[in-house]
Amino acid sequence: MHQTQLKDSEFKLFQSWLHQSTGINLSSAKKALVAGRLSKRLKHLDLKSFGDYFQFIRSHAAAEELQIAIDLLTTNETYFFREPKHFEFMSEKILPTLIPAKKFRVWSAASSSGEEAYSIAMTLANELTSTAWEIFGSDISTDMLRIARGGHYPIARARTIPTDMLSKYCLKGTGGQEGTFLVERNLRNKVSFAQINLNENLPDVGQFDLIFIRNVMIYFDQDTKCKVIERLLPHLKSGGYLFVSHSESLNGITDRLQIISPSIYKKP
Ligand SMILES: C[S@@+](CC[C@H](N)C(=O)[O-])C[C@H]1O[C@@H](n2cnc3c(N)ncnc32)[C@H](O)[C@@H]1O
Repeated sequence: MHQTQLKDSEFKLFQSWLHQSTGINLSSAKKALVAGRLSKRLKHLDLKSFGDYFQFIRSHAAAEELQIAIDLLTTNETYFFREPKHFEFMSEKILPTLIPAKKFRVWSAASSSGEEAYSIAMTLANELTSTAWEIFGSDISTDMLRIARGGHYPIARARTIPTDMLSKYCLKGTGGQEGTFLVERNLRNKVSFAQINLNENLPDVGQFDLIFIRNVMIYFDQDTKCKVIERLLPHLKSGGYLFVSHSESLNGITDRLQIISPSIYKKP
């Protein structure tokens, strides 16, 4: 089958648009991936070239298509209890020190399909008996937010959930839902999701005790990383913690946080 070619000049247009709107850096090594992911939209819209598709998403009439392109170009890989050391740190060092009278708030700031937010929720439900809590998840991808809000996943995704939490907080699908599981309603009710672009000024989401910003800054350049952290800092309570991925670091990005261990930072 004939496949439309993505010219270098066209790739550059997508590269700079995506960087400007989301902060994501697409290296030239991603050219084939971009062509692969966007080609179905060309076909769907009956467009002849990637240049035509670019003009289309930039036209005012195509706000919906703009979101579709962003959804297609973001990398959303995630899983339950990813980087378990962070959950252990939370259980061992943070949760035992809480003051019950205050509501404990956590932000999963690039939550993808919700696994990170629900892993935090399961940990809090398991450990906190007398402290009220809530989780807020946000992402730029509306496709991912739809999955996150549903809290309904293929059963294979349950593999990394500790067995005690799996039986307490997840309902195994039967009949037509065989092969899936649903995060239990009481837990889902404590987790809300909203679309937030970290590359723009943030809405008024209040302040949080913990912010998880894991496996997203790897897609940003240094300048964007600095700006994203600057935007997040006012939303972290004094004494609150910020978690990045083990493969990321805030070295050279901010000196306003104290490093507790690699990938865990505290606001003085
Ligand atoms: C690889 S996932 C990480 C998910 C989760 N935090 C984890 O560690 O498993 C990265 C997520 O960042 C989101 N993302 C990328 N750029 C973003 C931006 N500018 N604002 C908000 N979310 C963004 C993507 O849509 C994607 O769902």
